[in-house]
Amino acid sequence: MLENNNKLALSVLDECAGAVNCELEKIYPEVDGIAKVLYEAERYSLLSGGKRVRAALVIESCRLLGGKTEAALPFASAVEMVHTYSLIHDDLPCMDNDDLRRGKPTNHNVYGEAYATLAGDGLLTDAFAVCAMNPHVTGDCAAAAVALLSGAAGSYGMIKGQVMDIYGESHALSEKELVELHMGKTGAMICVSAQLGALAAGYAPNSEMTEKLTVFAQMIGLAFQVIDDILDVTSTDEELGKSIGSDKDKNKTTFMSFFTVEEARAYARRLTDDAIAAIEDIEGSERLQSLARFLCDRTK
Ligand code: IPE
Ligand code: IPE
Ligand code: MG
Ligand code: MG
Ligand code: MG
Repeated sequence: MLENNNKLALSVLDECAGAVNCELEKIYPEVDGIAKVLYEAERYSLLSGGKRVRAALVIESCRLLGGKTEAALPFASAVEMVHTYSLIHDDLPCMDNDDLRRGKPTNHNVYGEAYATLAGDGLLTDAFAVCAMNPHVTGDCAAAAVALLSGAAGSYGMIKGQVMDIYGESHALSEKELVELHMGKTGAMICVSAQLGALAAGYAPNSEMTEKLTVFAQMIGLAFQVIDDILDVTSTDEELGKSIGSDKDKNKTTFMSFFTVEEARAYARRLTDDAIAAIEDIEGSERLQSLARFLCDRTK
C-alpha cells in the first residue's frame, strides 16, 4: 500500500516538476550582455532540480477544484521563484552559511555573495510580475494572487519565521514559539501554494474549499519542517543534497531540541493524518493525500 502511495506521489511530483520547469525555462532564458551573470546565477539555483513540492501543491489544488493546469502554472512558477530566492539567501554566510544546496555548491560559492544576493532579489521581485500577468485568470484573480503571495513571503509570513529562526540560535524558544517559527519560515509558502491553486480554479480565498485546502497545507507545512529538522540530524549530504548538521552547528532551536527522532516522526505522522482528514471528503483528493503521506516519509 505504501509502495502504491509512493508511486502515485512520485508520478504527481514528476509531472508537476516537468510542467513548472518548462515554464521557468521560458521565464528565464539564457541572456547575453553585461548582466549575463545574473541570469546564470538565477538559472543555476532555480533550474537545479528542487523537488517542486510547492508547485505540485498549486497545480494539484487547482486541478482538484476543476481548474486548468495552464491557469495554475504561472502561480506555481512564482511560488518556486520565491522559494528558490529564499534558499539562496538562507544559505548566505550572514544567514545559515551553507555550502551545499540541491546537490551543488551554494549560489554564493559559485557567483559570490553580491551576485547571489542580487539573484535572490531578482527572483523574488520577478515572481510578483509573473503572478500579476497570468494570462489565464481575470485581473481580480491575479491581483488577489499577488496579495496572497506577498503576505506569505513577507514580514508577517516567511520573513518573520526566518527572523525567529535567527533569534532561536541565541535564545530559548518555547515549543509554541517554535511552531509559530515553522508556520512562518516554511508553512507560509506551503500554505499559499494550496491557496493559489484554489484561486486559479476560481475559488475565492474565503471559500469553503480554500479553507479545507488551507488546513491541509498548514498541517503538511508543519510536518514538512519537522521532517526537515529530523533529516538534518539523520541524513547524509549525498542523500539530502545539502549540508547536514547545519542546525546543530548554528545552535538552532528545532524540533530536535524538544523531541527524539521517533517522537518527532510520530508528531509528523499525526500532522499528516490531520492534513488528510481536512480534505478526504473532497472527491478526487487522493493525489494530494498521497503527496502528504509521501512527504511525511521522505528521505530528502
Ligand atoms: C527546503 O525546502 C527548505 C525548507 C523550507 C525546509 P525543500 O526541501 O522543498 O527544497 P527543494 O526545493 O526540494 O530543494
Ligand atoms: C529554510 O529553512 C527556510 C527558508 C528558506 C525560508 P532551513 O534553513 O531549515 O532550510 P534548509 O535546511 O537550509 O534547507
Ligand atoms: Mg535557515
Ligand atoms: Mg538553512
Ligand atoms: Mg533545515
